[in-house]
Amino acid sequence: VQGQKMDVSEEELAKHNKIDDGWLAIRGQVYNVTPYMEYHPGGAEELMKGLGIDATDLFNEVHRWVNVESMLEKCHIGPLQKGDPLAF
Ligand code: HEM
Repeated sequence: VQGQKMDVSEEELAKHNKIDDGWLAIRGQVYNVTPYMEYHPGGAEELMKGLGIDATDLFNEVHRWVNVESMLEKCHIGPLQKGDPLAF
């Protein structure tokens, strides 16, 4: 449902590492980039390097000025939960 956000663990993020089910995190937020795959000007292969991981560094190396927050607004899943939630 549009507008409902959910926290995503690094473990959950890692499961979505395929072209037809691909999530990545940039600047602490997780996005489903599968719908964007065919539109990425740098190509699907480049975008796929970041699937299932925190792709902030990869992203920043190429185009830190690109406004992901706005471009992927409709693909926004929610904040990346850092660290092991079971550790205390
Ligand atoms: C262009 C890589 C994620 C938007 C490019 C290019 C590369 C690249 C190599 C240059 C293509 C060229 O000049 O021929 C990557 C990598 C990513 C990533 C490694 C993550 C793992 C994203 C995301 C978005 C995005 C998440 C936005 C939703 C763009 C745009 C361009 C571009 C708008 C063309 C404009 C520009 O170069 O300033 N990308 N990209 N990219 N990418 Fe990405």
